[in-house]
Amino acid sequence: MEGEGSRRLVVAITGASGAIRGIRLLEAARELGLENHLVVSEWAERTIPHETDYRVEDVLGLASVVHRRDDQAAVISSGSFPTRGMAVVPCSMKTLAAMACGFADDLIHRAADVTLKERRRLVLVPREAPLSSIHLKNMLKLSNLGAVILPPVPAFYTHPRSLDEVVDHVVARVLDQFGWSWSRARRWDGRMQRSPD
Ligand SMILES: Cc1cc2nc3c(=O)[nH]c(=O)nc-3n(C[C@H](O)[C@H](O)[C@H](O)COP(=O)(O)O)c2cc1C
Repeated sequence: MEGEGSRRLVVAITGASGAIRGIRLLEAARELGLENHLVVSEWAERTIPHETDYRVEDVLGLASVVHRRDDQAAVISSGSFPTRGMAVVPCSMKTLAAMACGFADDLIHRAADVTLKERRRLVLVPREAPLSSIHLKNMLKLSNLGAVILPPVPAFYTHPRSLDEVVDHVVARVLDQFGWSWSRARRWDGRMQRSPD
């Protein structure tokens, strides 16, 4: 996709554990020179200071544009505002359920609804463990509607040396879904460390 909106990404951070992944996505988007439109849920505002060293204001400062979650008149509430798509990182089971039902109660749900109806890329990084059948059914429904379900499962084939590397690996995979390559995360290079005996 080229043209207006091709380097524009909607990012939502919700109240599931792993707020740092959404924050790193915003930092990566800045490094890549993307225009990111951010919406932060009420519970993300609670998990951000609880789980990370960031203040909510610092996170908002990473966005190109910040939208209030109760502003249903924001540009990202309309399909006529072109974007490459939307990433919900992390995605709570509540937000997942709202999206699966098309229940556009706040701007995060509405922007996701718009992304789906416009057949744009919707990438969800759901976080819960264990997963109930309700969670799994909602993920299947959204996947069948075209959303990409990208759980933050660590890969060990890159031999991560820190939690930062584990986080960045998922962020890079999210960006890959939009066709943006972020050089900070390592890719599988086809070479095994040791040959089997
Ligand atoms: C510290 C903390 C961690 C949480 N972790 C999760 C989680 O991993 N997954 C989840 O679905 N909800 C989690 N929750 C619950 C959500 O924050 C809660 O369901 C909230 O209503 C989600 O709303 P939102 O999607 O609008 O952010 C957590 C809550 C707290 C306080």
